[in-house]
Amino acid sequence: MDDWNIQLQPFLAGLGNMPRAARKGREVYNGYIRGCGLKYGNLKDLCLADPVFCEAHALATAPAPNGKPRTVVALANLINLFTILKLNLSGLTAPGHIVEFGSLRGGSAIFMAAAAKVLLPGSQVISFDTFAGFPETDAAIDAYGEGGFESVDLDELRGHVASLGLDNLTFIEGRFEDTLPGALAEIGRVCLAHVDCDVYDAVAFSYEQVKPCMISGGYLIFDDPLVPTCIGAFEAVEELLVRRDGLHAEQVFPHLVYRAP
Ligand SMILES: C[S@@+](CC[C@H](N)C(=O)[O-])C[C@H]1O[C@@H](n2cnc3c(N)ncnc32)[C@H](O)[C@@H]1O
Repeated sequence: MDDWNIQLQPFLAGLGNMPRAARKGREVYNGYIRGCGLKYGNLKDLCLADPVFCEAHALATAPAPNGKPRTVVALANLINLFTILKLNLSGLTAPGHIVEFGSLRGGSAIFMAAAAKVLLPGSQVISFDTFAGFPETDAAIDAYGEGGFESVDLDELRGHVASLGLDNLTFIEGRFEDTLPGALAEIGRVCLAHVDCDVYDAVAFSYEQVKPCMISGGYLIFDDPLVPTCIGAFEAVEELLVRRDGLHAEQVFPHLVYRAP
């Protein structure tokens, strides 16, 4: 489904000569094309002219019952998620499913489900949250405390998703510690994990749980570690992905992207 012509500013012309093969477990060229396409190219314009992106984005940013947009995920991060679905995962035979750790008002899950319905037919999106804010957090590293963010009316959210016809999206309620082990065993193959839960324990636990389900080359996308409020999320990535598992990032802008071994 690559009908886009990504163009970069002239100072990046040398990227065209970069090897396309994976290096240290990540596709460096693809990471540059997405990250630089966003910052120094026409990727945003391509998305804003793409009807699938526009519809998914409109659904993700529409107001929730409390008047706030359904998603707090930044536009650049949504563009990168969409670009991975469109350029890197679409067209694979039975690639697996998409999981999200941290739904809040459901916006980024709705965004991925609307895009996946067109780009990854047959794939499901499963998004996990307490829907009651953060469980206990670690005051020594996390900026957010227990109950942070907000409670969400899950019945309203499920009804809203049904009214949109997004039958490829499921929300699972509860602490990750209670829900992930059983649910991920049933989900099986995961091609994209959107880790958007801000704090050390949640990021660490969700990574450990999803790791055995990831298809080789699957995308592990961390929304928060590089934002000022989420050093706990970054510490989990440093300790588990970088030091222990020896993974190298494919992208550091607009969020951290790793590829599963
Ligand atoms: C930044 S919000 C998610 C934003 C959302 N993806 C969006 O589109 O706006 C982070 C969410 O992670 C959830 N969370 C954090 N730790 C959790 C845990 N251990 N179990 C379940 N949910 C958790 C919080 O309840 C919160 O709603």
